[in-house]
Amino acid sequence: MSGVRFAPARRLRGEVTAPPDKSISHRAALLGAMSFGPVRITDYLHAADTLSTLRALRAVGTLVEVGPREVVVRGMGLRGAREASAPIDVGNAGTLMRLLPGWLAGQEGRAFELDGDASIRGRPVDRIAAPLRAMGATLEPTQERCPPLIVRGARLRAIDYELPVASAQVKSCVLIAGLLAEGTTTVTEPAPSRDHTERMLAGAGVAVRREGARVSVQNTDELQAQDVVVPGDPSSAAFMIAAAALVPGSRVVVRDVGVNWTRAGFLRILQRMGASVAGDVEPAPEAGPKLDPGSGSVVAREPVSDLEVTAAPLQGTAVEPEEVALTIDELPLVALLGCFAEGETVVRGAEELRVKESDRIAGVVEGLRGLGGRIEATRDGFAVVGGGGLRGGVIDARGDHRMAMLGAVAGLASREGVEVVGMESAAVSYPGFVEDLARLA
Ligand code: S3P
Repeated sequence: MSGVRFAPARRLRGEVTAPPDKSISHRAALLGAMSFGPVRITDYLHAADTLSTLRALRAVGTLVEVGPREVVVRGMGLRGAREASAPIDVGNAGTLMRLLPGWLAGQEGRAFELDGDASIRGRPVDRIAAPLRAMGATLEPTQERCPPLIVRGARLRAIDYELPVASAQVKSCVLIAGLLAEGTTTVTEPAPSRDHTERMLAGAGVAVRREGARVSVQNTDELQAQDVVVPGDPSSAAFMIAAAALVPGSRVVVRDVGVNWTRAGFLRILQRMGASVAGDVEPAPEAGPKLDPGSGSVVAREPVSDLEVTAAPLQGTAVEPEEVALTIDELPLVALLGCFAEGETVVRGAEELRVKESDRIAGVVEGLRGLGGRIEATRDGFAVVGGGGLRGGVIDARGDHRMAMLGAVAGLASREGVEVVGMESAAVSYPGFVEDLARLA
């Protein structure tokens, strides 16, 4: 199979606009479907994953109109999802596979089958099955712990659930089910994770309460989902930001990036490594050795900023388990930066990377080694010996959008260039990625 070649760049200059946020797009459409609408979503992400969400929501009875800049969703209310005539196809979208069952589990007396592509069929759904079963729904993963997944809706009861790993997807699933459950549903997180669901539910009139690591919702009659303007995706912007940080002499502005502190872990790590990132990033609520999300009513706002990145010599760093969920999709980029940084870069507590669109520990380690990187897999992450940069070569994206974009950025920063096999998978989250990169080079 031939790939797309990314030659070494001299320096990167100019501006790009980050594509709309994938996590927020999924949630805006889902909350729209759970309201009586109409909900207008401006700058909805038109990429494979989020189009899967619109298709899935139509399959359970939601009316969706797709315009050039706006998607309008007319839902059937919290308890009105209809049985679909065929299995619901989530495509490659793990977030959809984990959030949608939270809603469907509360549709009393109705059953739904969810399925997806080969990657989805290899990704476990037991983390959502356990709490939804405890709430009273029946979940039948067809092959032990993976999709296809049958969800039989029931009258739900509230639970007080301690997440075994920090996961925004599982947290969101339980909170969404909690809207349909008798009583107060509480989720406790071992470490903070992205909080878009909480913010958006607060915007839809739900009394969402935070007490440090605990977040709760109440049984709700009706959601009043608000119109949403989707900010730029910080996880997509991260590829442009990393490229600008790595290629000497670069200065790049990325416009309209979502800078919610629960998504800004990568920016904090990058600054720690020595790159200059200027922008109005929401500050993380630091409290003692742990990040404490604070207490009180959750506020709906999603902050946005332009970010200006300037290349600089980088130093290695240690990413600790506490930071992992706040940087989860950017950790492959931390490994890449580590190859160019002085000293060692280590990531700990990131076993979750093994169950993403591909096994991202194996993919990153084998991929970067193939390009000349000095990187080892560990049980829960990786360790990189930096300073040598990358020679270049060929990298296989393994059908994983973030691995494809990682390879492209590696190519720009390498000595001989990189050929990426499977570049087309970038369309899952960032359809104009190659063009945007070319604009800066
Ligand atoms: C997501 C949460 C993350 C992330 C995924 C999107 C979300 O997964 O990897 O790309 O939108 O909630 P986990 O929080 O389950 O690790």
